[in-house]
Order: sequence, then structure tokens, then C-alpha cells
Amino acid sequence: WPRTSGRIDGAVAIGGVDVRELAKDHGTPLYVVDEEDFRSRCRDYRSAFHDGEVHYAGKAFLCREIARWVDQEGLGLDVCSAGELAVALSVGFPPERITMHGNNKSVAELEKAVEVGVGHIVVDSFEEIARLGRLAERYGARPKVMIRVTVGVEAHTHEFIATAHDDQKFGLSLNSGAAAEAVRRILALPSLELVGLHSHIGSQITDTAGFEVAARRLAGLLVEIKDEHGVILPELDLGGGYGIPYVAGDEAPDIKVIADSLHEIVTKVCGAAGLPVPRLTVEPGRSIAGLAGVTVYEVGTVKDVEGLRTYVSVDGGMSDNIRTALYGAQYTAALASRESRAEPMLSRLVGKHCESGDMVIRDLWLPGDLTPGDLIAVAGTGAYCRSLANNYNYLPKPAVVAVSAGRSRVIVRRETEDDLLRGQL
Ligand code: LLP
Repeated sequence: WPRTSGRIDGAVAIGGVDVRELAKDHGTPLYVVDEEDFRSRCRDYRSAFHDGEVHYAGKAFLCREIARWVDQEGLGLDVCSAGELAVALSVGFPPERITMHGNNKSVAELEKAVEVGVGHIVVDSFEEIARLGRLAERYGARPKVMIRVTVGVEAHTHEFIATAHDDQKFGLSLNSGAAAEAVRRILALPSLELVGLHSHIGSQITDTAGFEVAARRLAGLLVEIKDEHGVILPELDLGGGYGIPYVAGDEAPDIKVIADSLHEIVTKVCGAAGLPVPRLTVEPGRSIAGLAGVTVYEVGTVKDVEGLRTYVSVDGGMSDNIRTALYGAQYTAALASRESRAEPMLSRLVGKHCESGDMVIRDLWLPGDLTPGDLIAVAGTGAYCRSLANNYNYLPKPAVVAVSAGRSRVIVRRETEDDLLRGQL
């Protein structure tokens, strides 16, 4: 739950605003973002990595207002498409604090990145190195690039979001020598400035060992680069992926502890080889946005399937949160509009979409007296929910409201039927 959440007159309140009021003013389903929670996590990261850089990974959740908060808190921003870049630029986010990612950036995306002068472009293939080299030459530019290195660790997370083993699409492998070859190719191109190495081992990772192995291996590559080319690269970007607690009993790494340990590892490896300590960057997405967000739904039907469980249907589902269907994600929910002393019933919180995989929470205990019109709040939906939202069954995407100091305001308006029809001939 967000840091500022609590109860007012029995109802869940976020940022000092009663969810009943939120539902009345803005409708449901509703994404609620606790501004203070989001901002305070930005500040926590900045203080933990005080002599490095923190870039918020926009894929977790980006809209214009979020880009403003990230800018105001002094963080950089990671984008991985022209669309994410456009959101950032539309609010005047300084391009030099933006990093461009992607395993298949289009020529147009690379051109845009070079044209506006993003701070870093992380290259992900030989093809891209050549392409970017030519393009930069044409623009008379010399973009700063990093190499996305596949460090070969098995991150303990869902297969779809693990990215550091060799058999997946991202990066250039350390083991196979592809990363070292990428270094040679970039150094041979006068139009590219190689400034560092990047790795992102996966997402929702709670065991810090993987981050440490990645840091050690990247620092090792820095040493090899100096030995082979006499070149000292000043930066290491260790990506994001720090897990958050979704349900009771989940472990979450302590950012301060991670920051100190990564710093120590890199200092040790580089120090032993007589290299200066590179500037560290991290790219958290989920661990900044995730717990700041809550989704508020209204209960529709409550169906008791005799002897099995109760199916509680809400007015959204896999269109506003596909993570349960896609990754078997787990969430915590609460009856939000009132308190209940009724006996808990084994329930499944389901959506209104036309398939049985449409679950928000597969197994949970909810009060036995739920009725249509009750509000349910699902915690931890600030990351990868709105950003993965879709219009399955022509459901309009919910609004996003920011709450702060007892007030709420819409930061992304709810889609309408007109929005759904727009663009159709
Ligand atoms: N940096 C890079 C290069 C990334 O690819 C990602 C996430 C991040 C940073 C931020 O990772 P985070 O700190 O948020 O874990 N849709 C999935 C997550 C996909 C993550 C993709 N890359 C989910 O809902 O769990």
C-alpha cells in the first residue's frame, strides 16, 4: 500500500482522500497514484545513489505528469520508444538526462534521439552500432553510447522478465565475446562516443546476488577494455529490476544496502586494476512507481460457486491489469468502501472480460458480506498496469488520478467511446 494510505471513517484513504470520494468524483475502475509516495521513493533512490545517477524507467508507468515529477525530483529518465520520448519532451524533460533503450529501435527512433540530443543511447546489436554510426555522421553528431551487455546470470524471476541469460533477445553476450566485439566496432567509429557499459538482468528480482554478479562482470569488462584498447570508460549502468512486496511475506531488497554493495564491488574491481571508479547509474521502474499506485474497482456480481469459492466480479480486469494473466502475478486487495466483520470467504477477484483467465487475484479472502456497489482496492498496481493496459472487449482505459495532501486531480483522463472509435474508417 502507498506510504500515505490509511482509513477514514472505515474507508481506505490514499493521500488523505477517501476512496468513496475518488470513485464518486472520477468513476471506476480508477488508477490512483499517491504523489508523495512516488516522489519520496525517487528521493530515497537519489540519496542511496548520491554519487551516481538514478533514471526512472518510464515503461513502468509514464504520462506527462509523472515525467514532470521525475524531472522535479532530479532523476533521469529511461525511454524505449519514440512514444515514451515524445511524452518526456512534451513537458520539457531535459534530453541530456534521457537514455534511449530498445533491442530494435527504428531508424526514425534513432534519428529522433540523435536530433534532440538524448544523453545516452544504449546499443543492443551490431546492426544498430553500424546504423547509429552512419546516422550520427550524417547529423554531424557524436552521441554518447553504452553497450547493453548480457552478463550471463540466471535471475530468479518469471521467464518473461529475466534478461541476463544468453538465450533471450536483449544485449550482446559477455560469454560469447560479442560484447568485446561491440567495443571494438564502436571504438572504430569516430561518430560514436563510447562512455560505458549497461546491464539489466531482469525485473521483480528480490535476491540481490544477481545484481552483484552483474556489477562484478561489467567492472571486469571495463578492465579488459583498458587492457586491450587503453581506453577508460567512465560509466556503468546497472539497470533496474529491484523487486517490491506484492503480498504478505514477499521480500524486497533494501535500496541503500544494494547501493553500497554495488559501489563497493565496482570500487574493488576497478581499484585493483588501477582504474578510476566509474559513475554508477541505476534504472528503477517498478520500485518507484509500483507501491504508489492502487486500483479502485466497483464490485458487480458476487457468485458463489457451491462448495468451491466465491467469484467477485469487478468493473475492469485484464484490460487494466494483465499481469495476473501474463505472469501469474499476485496482489493484495481490500474491501475499501467500508469495514466489515463478516466471516472471510475464499474468493477469486475477476474482471468483466470474456475469458476465464481474466483474473485480478486468483486466490484471496474477502469478507463474506460483499455486495454490488462495494469498492475494492488492489494494492501495488502503480507499475506495469496502466502501461500494459489495453482495450480488450472495447473497454475504455481507466483514468489516472494523483492524490496528495487530501486532494485528487486527474492526470490522465478516462477514455471514452469516442476514443475507442477514433481512427476507425
Ligand atoms: N531498464 C531496462 C533496460 C529495462 O528493460 C527495464 C524493465 C527497467 C530498467 C526497469 O525494470 P524495473 O525496475 O521496473 O523492474 N512488464 C513486466 C516488467 C517488464 C520489465 C521490462 N524492463 C511486469 O509487469 O512485471
